[in-house]
Order: sequence, then C-alpha cells, then structure tokens
Amino acid sequence: MKTSRRKLLQQSLSLPALAAAPELILPKSPAGYTQKEREGRVKEGKPLTKSDLITPCLLLDLDAFEANVNKMAAHCKASNISLRPHGKSHKCVEIAKRQIKAGAVGLSVATIREAQAMAAAGITGMLITSELIGRPKIERLMQVVRKAPDTMTVVDNLTHAQELNDAAAAAKLKLHVLIDVDPGGKRTGIASGAPTIAFAEKLMKMPHLKLRGFHCYSGSSAHVAGFEARRQHSLNAMTPALETFAQLKQRGLPLEILSGGSTGTYNIDPAFKGMTELQCGSYVFMDVEYQLIGGQRDDKFYDDFASSLTVMATVISRNHPDRATTDAGIKSFATDRKFGPNLKDLTGARVFISSDEHGTVMLDHPSREVKLGDRLEFIIPHCDPNVNLYDRMYCVRGEKVVDVWRIVGRHGD
Ligand SMILES: Cc1ncc(COP(=O)(O)O)c(C=O)c1O
Repeated sequence: MKTSRRKLLQQSLSLPALAAAPELILPKSPAGYTQKEREGRVKEGKPLTKSDLITPCLLLDLDAFEANVNKMAAHCKASNISLRPHGKSHKCVEIAKRQIKAGAVGLSVATIREAQAMAAAGITGMLITSELIGRPKIERLMQVVRKAPDTMTVVDNLTHAQELNDAAAAAKLKLHVLIDVDPGGKRTGIASGAPTIAFAEKLMKMPHLKLRGFHCYSGSSAHVAGFEARRQHSLNAMTPALETFAQLKQRGLPLEILSGGSTGTYNIDPAFKGMTELQCGSYVFMDVEYQLIGGQRDDKFYDDFASSLTVMATVISRNHPDRATTDAGIKSFATDRKFGPNLKDLTGARVFISSDEHGTVMLDHPSREVKLGDRLEFIIPHCDPNVNLYDRMYCVRGEKVVDVWRIVGRHGD
C-alpha cells in the first residue's frame, strides 16, 4: 500500500522525540502542504491560513489592495483622466483584471515578457513603456499585436521606427505607437520641441505605424519629498512635452494620448492641461520608499494608499535579548534602497537585511513580545523589484489565505 506524503508527515509528527519537544516551531494547523496542495485547498475553498505557509513568502492583504484599486479608480474618474496603471509593479494578471474592471483603460507594461504574459491572459489596451529594440523583441511584439491589436509601443528613434514599420508591414499589421518624449531624465525619449515635432511628422508618413500620442514619464518627479516640491518638479518636467503636444495638435496631427505620471504625482498631473492619462503602478501595494515622500495631507508620511504587500518571515533564532533572527534575508527583499523594510504591527524595532537567508530585527522597545517561531510581516522597501523575486503572492483576509496569484513575465521567460 502506498503511503501519502501527508500521512508520512503526520506519522513523523507523532514520534515520541518530537512530542517531547513542545517548544519546537510546529505550526498549530496542519502544515507541510506542497505548493500544489496549498493552491488546491484555496481553489476548493478548504481552510488555509497564514500559518500553513512556508516562509519567506509574499502576502497580499486583499482588503487594503481593493481599497487602493478603488481609490485610484475613483480619483481618476473624478479628475476626468484615464488610468492605464503600470503592471511592472505587480506582474500579475489577476491584479490587471481587477484594475480594468474598476475602470482602467488598459495596462502599461515595461517589457515584452510582461506584454506577452498579459496578452495570453486576454488583457488588451496595453502600452509598452520601454523601447523594444532588436529582432527577437520586435518579432514577439508582432505576436502580441496579433492577439491584442490595440497594443501600443514607444519609439524615440527614426531607425527603430523604420524597423517597427517594416516588421508591421511584413506581418500585415498596423502598429500603434507613442513618441517617447524625454522629460529631462535622459533615460529614454526624444527632446521635446523641434526634435519631437520633426520626428512626429516623419512617423505620420510611415504607413504601418499609427501615431496616437506621447509617452512622457518623469521618474525623477515621483519620489520628490514634500507635496509642493513634487508638484513643482513634475510641472517643470512635463511642461515642454505638454506644449509640444498642443503644438502638434494645432498642426492637425490626430494625437489623443499623453500618458505619464506616477503614484507620487497622481494628484498633481491631472491638473496639467493636455495630460490625458496616468500610468501609476505602486499605488496597489505601496512601499517604504513611497511612505517617506510625504503627502498632500501629511508632509511627513504619504498614506494616500495603504500598504497591502508584505513579506512574511519566521523568527528562526531568539537567543539574544536584544534581537530576533528571521529567515528573510537579501534573497527575500530587493535591497536597492538605503533603507530596509519596516515591520507591520510591531513598533520599537529596527530591521537589518545583510545576510542572504537571514534578517535581523533589533528589539529596542518592542511593542509586543517576539518569540521563536513567530511570524513577522515586513512592508517592503521598493515594491517593483521585490515582487520580481517571487513566483506567487498569497492573498489574505485576516489570517485566512483566500487565493494564490501568479507573478508572470519575470526575467527568464
Ligand atoms: C515608465 C513608467 N511608468 C510608470 C511607472 C509607475 O510609477 P509608480 O510605481 O511610482 O507609480 C514607472 C515606475 O517605475 C515607470 O517606469
């Protein structure tokens, strides 16, 4: 007779040696499920709780997430501006679908991998916000456009535009493009004013390209600390593009879209004359970096959107009175920022992430006791690269795990 893994596990848990070690970190509910079993339980509506999960893992607090999606949707509706939220933050079909259901006109994506994964799941209205250079990416783009014909891509160079036009001609397609206008960051984009005007006129003559407008993303405005300083920064960055957009429209070019903006400027950019849509991303999750920029209401703490995404870790060593060691280290967090994660629901503690598989929580004046085996949740420093480290996020309401969502289009696909 074949013995299942579950039975074996249950038998091993009842061994006398283990029974004699009551302090051991054994979760109260029956854990040890395989990933397939966990996803199966959720699908079948069987109980699964946070304590059944293997840490470190990514948790999405659905109540906070839904409030964020609804708040941004309502804000854009009230401000009379479209929302094409950025999927680079979440890389998750389930989230894209919910954003679109709440009123978004489509989804911005950063890479061809994200575009392919989203198109395969039926997402339309996509804007790819990075230049797709080279034959392999352009060929994949044509596949995406066949599936989702209204997909837009950005262009800032005539040779690239010609390549896109030729590929679209060969594929017998009309490719929708936005001119990538540089707001001054020198990352990508063509300078506004005369260079953009000349470029637009050349694009209009390419029969397989349909020029629909501008993409102008001022990344350097997003995290400027203080609302008024941020407003001024974004206005300065965006004004040349807005003026050029207006000039081209006066010349009769049928431009409908000027897309840009971030979570940091969502309540700033809609006031700019000519701006037609926002591409905010991080608002669905929020992160420490955004909390630090200050909001319109509170100049010290940006709390327009709630923290919905955390990394959950387990305290794996508690042998010193001043600290706890967890199982979430560098491999569990994007460590591209100077600051580390913040603890959720625990104050008076500082977090250091300096080892691959270990994190240190300094318990200066902890607001509660921290014991071996405790689960701790961390608000992540920078959400986009953090999500990219994981295959899935566990959706929770309170202690219950109610869904498991895949993270798609990661590097390597
Ligand atoms: C081109 C582009 N658009 C929009 C965003 C979204 O910005 P945020 O996540 O700050 O809202 C980003 C983020 O890096 C971006 O690179």
